[in-house]
Amino acid sequence: MPIARITPARRVRGELQLPGDKSISHRYAILAALAEGPSEISNYSTADDCARTLACLERLGVKCRREGHRVHLTGAGLVGFRKPWRKLDAGNSGTTMRLLAGVLAGQPFAATLTGDPSLRRRPMRRIIEPLTRMGARITAQGDGLAPLEIHGGPLRAIDYTLPVPSAQVKSCILLAGLFADGVTSVTEPVRTRDHLELALAQFGAEAPRAERAIRLAGRQRLTGQRLGVPGDISSAVFFLAAAMLLPDSQVTLHHVGLNPTRTAVLDCLAAQGACIRLTDVAEENRELAGTVTAGSAALQGGAVSGPAAARMIDELPMLAVLAPFTAGGLEIHDAGELRLKESDRIATLADNLRRIGAEVQELSDGLRIPGGQASRLRGAEIDPQGDHRIAMAFSVAALALPGETAILGAECAAVSFPEFFPLLDAVTQR
Ligand code: S3P
Repeated sequence: MPIARITPARRVRGELQLPGDKSISHRYAILAALAEGPSEISNYSTADDCARTLACLERLGVKCRREGHRVHLTGAGLVGFRKPWRKLDAGNSGTTMRLLAGVLAGQPFAATLTGDPSLRRRPMRRIIEPLTRMGARITAQGDGLAPLEIHGGPLRAIDYTLPVPSAQVKSCILLAGLFADGVTSVTEPVRTRDHLELALAQFGAEAPRAERAIRLAGRQRLTGQRLGVPGDISSAVFFLAAAMLLPDSQVTLHHVGLNPTRTAVLDCLAAQGACIRLTDVAEENRELAGTVTAGSAALQGGAVSGPAAARMIDELPMLAVLAPFTAGGLEIHDAGELRLKESDRIATLADNLRRIGAEVQELSDGLRIPGGQASRLRGAEIDPQGDHRIAMAFSVAALALPGETAILGAECAAVSFPEFFPLLDAVTQR
């Protein structure tokens, strides 16, 4: 679907079950590969990114079998990977590249990780530096860019304080720590998603947290598991936003992941006046999940800064696109990391908000978007620059814009959410 053409909707209504969480799926697959014995992962993410992780694991000699949304993996154990005879291609997926780099750092062979042009522009020095301190030898391009040639070997444990809040970097170091002698500790100034820590415990390893530091003793054995992945809250947000934006609307999303390190976006929307109901909340494999319901709301707008910006970094595109429809607008600060995602999301958001007729000010670390602009907005041609979250955020806004909106390269939604357009259609009434 090179161009998605979207016309205004009357309302959205429906109940959906969303595909599995992307962050959790990557981690379960990698730990299952490192575990001893078979694992079965149900509701595995359908994202292209997560398929990349499986394909890379297969190139490392891990047996994976996909049966619909279920994945069966035969763990190779900590020392069972074989040297790949081709490059490992992470595609568009930063998580695949950064987490697998941690695993490769501990292997007794060299391997090359590469990715698509977007991923090859994203900063890898943030993992090269700690992995090098642990004893890996890594060759990168230019200023720390992929392809990365990783010469693994015996690693030593380090105490590392993350210079930027990043769950990918934290997870990379902890995964390398599995291969190190001694206790690796990672201190995070802002608490980021903790799926790896929870999954490590689920697979039988201990990674206790004391305040801001996670400690992991090396050489812990992992045991294969049967696990289910909750729906992806970062995908859920597009449907919640659609319901809030349109009159007489309501969506109910079942079995959505509600890990507290991921729900800042719900708090932010609630603080803006959204009515979000959580029901049937229960824990499964140490992860919380439940049903999320939201309906039409007159959002007030607000501000996002500090740790909250890091905790909802993936949902900021949708919040920014909602902003001109709110009463008071939205001011986003401390979100410079947005410039280092699948696109420079600050620039891509500003450009496309202007295309739909919104006034917006680009800041070095965020955006200032005035509210009360709904009446001047209109459908337009959107260029998401191949960035899945930008494409989906503007597709939601398009439901509330007069005229037609054309999303160029809309197929990029498949990076995280291949079912996005059919599911959006399923809940849209015209
Ligand atoms: C992710 C962490 C975040 C997030 C990304 C997924 C993860 O990236 O933006 O979509 O699964 O660890 P950073 O760690 O770079 O903040």
